[in-house]
Amino acid sequence: MRSILVTGGAGFIGANFVAYLRSKRPDARVTVLDKLTYAGNIENLKAVEKETGFNFVKGDITDAPLVESIFAKEAIDAVAHLAAESHVDRSITGPKAFIETNVLGTFTLLETAKRHWLSDGALKAHGARFLHVSTDEVYGSLGDEGYFTEKTAYSPNSPYSATKAGSDHLVRAYFHTYGLPVITTNCSNNYGQYQFPEKLMPLVIINALKGAPIPVYGDGRNVRDWLYVEDHCEALYLALEHGALGETYNVGGRSERANIDIVRRVCSMIDEAVKDKGLAALYPCDKPRESLITFVKDRPGHDRRYAIDCSKIEAQLGWSPRHSFEDGLQRTVDWYIANRRWWERILSGEYMRFYESNYGARLKERS
Ligand code: NAD
Ligand code: TYD
Repeated sequence: MRSILVTGGAGFIGANFVAYLRSKRPDARVTVLDKLTYAGNIENLKAVEKETGFNFVKGDITDAPLVESIFAKEAIDAVAHLAAESHVDRSITGPKAFIETNVLGTFTLLETAKRHWLSDGALKAHGARFLHVSTDEVYGSLGDEGYFTEKTAYSPNSPYSATKAGSDHLVRAYFHTYGLPVITTNCSNNYGQYQFPEKLMPLVIINALKGAPIPVYGDGRNVRDWLYVEDHCEALYLALEHGALGETYNVGGRSERANIDIVRRVCSMIDEAVKDKGLAALYPCDKPRESLITFVKDRPGHDRRYAIDCSKIEAQLGWSPRHSFEDGLQRTVDWYIANRRWWERILSGEYMRFYESNYGARLKERS
């Protein structure tokens, strides 16, 4: 029976991954280690938190004694490492937390896994696997043509991508130097349920619902390759269970879109949804929501285009995205409409008070 440590499991992709993992491997023991930073939200784990075989620990991946105690107590034989500081804009104004969590935190996990799984250079924990979840942003920016492959040279441009690149290199080094059983995935932009409303997709959906200005950086022609989060979770699961050790896999949606086109599509979807669902009184807006688009000063060092060649994971692990962009986007829009309390609580700061009164004491006891 596997005992899997999921770091960052209360965040956007982490919470979706835990749900996916529970459905695929109900027999496995799952321990989430999450610091519950501003981006972590224990409510994201509501569906699984009381299940047997699930365990939540509030804590920091840089806390070596804590990580050590989890490995020892839970006999961890698989790690899905998602914990990170993940927002580019925040990395520009405050890079230190990115270095601590993304680099030092990854180092702490690797060291602990090495101590528990290897003995005299040999793997003593048979079947043990460390999945490092990374991003396509480590490859830098593309021009109008071409795709990132697993062989593309690293060229990170933001403090966020630089720290993710640093962590990728550490993971690679622990394989080559010590024989730690690692797999790395580099994925494109995700969207879907539970995404914190500072990232483009939820920010646009929520502002469009509220009739608030929708900020588009620069000329809006920056291109990202969008992947629905459940498809990413499936790729992560396949890589964790079947990925070749020491390999990296690019994961992408084959769905390149310019930001401005996405924003316009979200606006029209919200116009339709508000009309169809009879929500005009809740979300009044007397003009097409496209008129809310506001071009603002560009992000410094803003990468122009990301696009993933995911043929390796398709050929070797049989993965491909199941959701078209339209389908994934509609699901996402519907989720944010149906879960207004979730994002209202976050935006108003009420979540922190709710969290303290409902979980605070209990989590302090357990951590
Ligand atoms: P997120 O910001 O939504 O969640 C990050 C989680 O990590 C939060 O729950 C937070 O509390 C936790 N965390 C942060 N610092 C921690 C620490 N020191 N110790 C323990 N927990 C800590 O991020 P996300 O979008 O879910 O991304 C998850 C992973 O996937 C990251 O490693 C990110 O680099 C990678 N990734 C994200 C995307 C994307 O589009 N969101 C794309 C490719 C790769
Ligand atoms: P983001 O969701 O922050 O992801 P990343 O920077 O990791 O790709 O941003 C996606 C794209 O949207 C990126 O090109 C920046 C742009 N963007 C805006 O135009 N306006 C916004 O308010 C945000 C948050 C992002």
